[in-house]
Amino acid sequence: MPQPAKHAELDHPTLDVLAQRWSPYVFNPRPVEEEKLKSCLEAARWAASSYNEQPWTFLVARREEPEEFAEMLGFLVEANQAWAKNAGVLLLTVVCRTFQRNNKPNRVAEHDVGLAAGNFTVQATALGLAVHQMAGVELAKAKAAYQIPDTHDPYTGIALGYAGDPALAEEQKLGERDQSPRPRKPLSEIVFQGRWGATAKWLS
Ligand SMILES: Cc1cc2nc3c(=O)[nH]c(=O)nc-3n(C[C@H](O)[C@H](O)[C@H](O)COP(=O)(O)O)c2cc1C
Repeated sequence: MPQPAKHAELDHPTLDVLAQRWSPYVFNPRPVEEEKLKSCLEAARWAASSYNEQPWTFLVARREEPEEFAEMLGFLVEANQAWAKNAGVLLLTVVCRTFQRNNKPNRVAEHDVGLAAGNFTVQATALGLAVHQMAGVELAKAKAAYQIPDTHDPYTGIALGYAGDPALAEEQKLGERDQSPRPRKPLSEIVFQGRWGATAKWLS
């Protein structure tokens, strides 16, 4: 089945894979091939990080293990459960906010987990998969259930799988979301030069 495409409308050229990435609400409930999952995690592993601390860990629940999948699904907020239940794989990112080398706070630990999630997402897109990241996770419940140590905290959820046909969405509003526009701020609003609020001259 062809993947529904919701590619970015670019003002300037980018790598194809970046323009192709988007976050679907409608997933086709099929498993993700093990090699593809490993490849996405490998991409995450090779992200840059401050002092090469690699402050990320991933808890993974695949459709093929229905009990584990259902358990992780249960840690998502209800609105996310409604669509994430059809993903092939659910993941929880976990952050370590202290440097293991000296026990001092790592101010950019979350940033680095985000970079790893970004690598994961780009690799997934290149493999024909889709990723939908989630802030809506019951973090305290997940921390207790997975026995995550005090040194680490669950941080975000990731749904990985194959985008489905919005016309076949179980809930009409989810299909509509997948066909809605993808607004972005123009570069003139987010790229400044010289002082705050001054659009970079070379942009106009
Ligand atoms: C860290 C993060 C948390 C997110 N949390 C949620 C979430 O809990 N529920 C949801 O439906 N979408 C969530 N999203 C998806 C965003 O809404 C989506 O990325 C944004 O609207 C841009 O759409 P696009 O990814 O298709 O470009 C999250 C995305 C990120 C990066």
